[in-house]
Amino acid sequence: MGSGIVQVAAQAGYSVLFVEANDELVKRGLGRLRDTLEGLAARGKLEARAKDETLGRIAGTPRLDDLKACDLVIEAMTENQALKNETFAKLDRICAPAAILATNTSSCNVTALAAATKRPGQVVGMHFFNPVPLMKLVEVVRTILTDDAAATAATEFVRSVGKVPVQAKDATAFIVNRLLVPYLLDAIRVYEGGLASLEDIDAAMKLGCGYPMGPFTLLDLVGLDTAMYVAEVMFDEFREARYAPPPLLKRMVMAGQLGRKTGRGFYTYDAK
Ligand SMILES: NC(=O)c1ccc[n+]([C@@H]2O[C@H](COP(=O)([O-])OP(=O)(O)OC[C@H]3O[C@@H](n4cnc5c(N)ncnc54)[C@H](O)[C@@H]3O)[C@@H](O)[C@H]2O)c1
Repeated sequence: MGSGIVQVAAQAGYSVLFVEANDELVKRGLGRLRDTLEGLAARGKLEARAKDETLGRIAGTPRLDDLKACDLVIEAMTENQALKNETFAKLDRICAPAAILATNTSSCNVTALAAATKRPGQVVGMHFFNPVPLMKLVEVVRTILTDDAAATAATEFVRSVGKVPVQAKDATAFIVNRLLVPYLLDAIRVYEGGLASLEDIDAAMKLGCGYPMGPFTLLDLVGLDTAMYVAEVMFDEFREARYAPPPLLKRMVMAGQLGRKTGRGFYTYDAK
């Protein structure tokens, strides 16, 4: 997600400095961005000059301290509340008082991140979708502590990188996952109950609703561990049975059947 956000911001003309956990990952990140932009240029989707200029606007560092001159920081680290809280407290000490601190989190508590800083009014959620360069939507999330000016600036930034902002309050999963996750969990329950085959449920939702893919194809793509983690966080927040991960999902995760990334989830994938 981080490399996608770096790419769209740099392509939109912003100077971008990204932080990775160590030198090796900085190098790998830069290499990956270069490959992506060169691939776009080779396919005629980006002019050679625009590619060079975009690459010229991107730099990487392993030191959080180097972010001190940034006006906006978008955090896209591993999904872990404690790690993010700690990072926001550090960013608050490092960044200029006017800087906005945003998080790309899908399920962490944005209010907790705001409360970890001395600038809670300037902390927002900026939830991009995967793959970032292709997906138009960004959920701009405000907490009960967010200032109007910060929410407006975040929304303008989203527009300036060519995305479409929608506004949501800080409640776990925001808009898209709040509606999508219960649907995916229901699909597993319906399959567990023996209503129909995986293939037929997928075909029904794809052809009957015009969805680009059925729920099991989507679950395999997202990763069953990720789906279960988000469901657990939502269940913990709302205490409603419809967010509880179904037994089959839990057992597939225990068995290491996590979807495409392990070669087996609801479907089986060969190396190709
Ligand atoms: N994957 C998705 O579809 C998706 C969609 C929307 C939002 N998100 C959110 O984006 C965030 C990142 O998700 P992802 O799928 O890209 O995860 P990922 O595991 O692919 O990437 C996380 C990155 O954070 C880096 N990192 C970890 N600790 C670090 C540290 N101490 N300092 C600097 N960098 C560190 C890792 O090296 C890694 O590159 C999460 O909060 C997730 O909820 C993910």
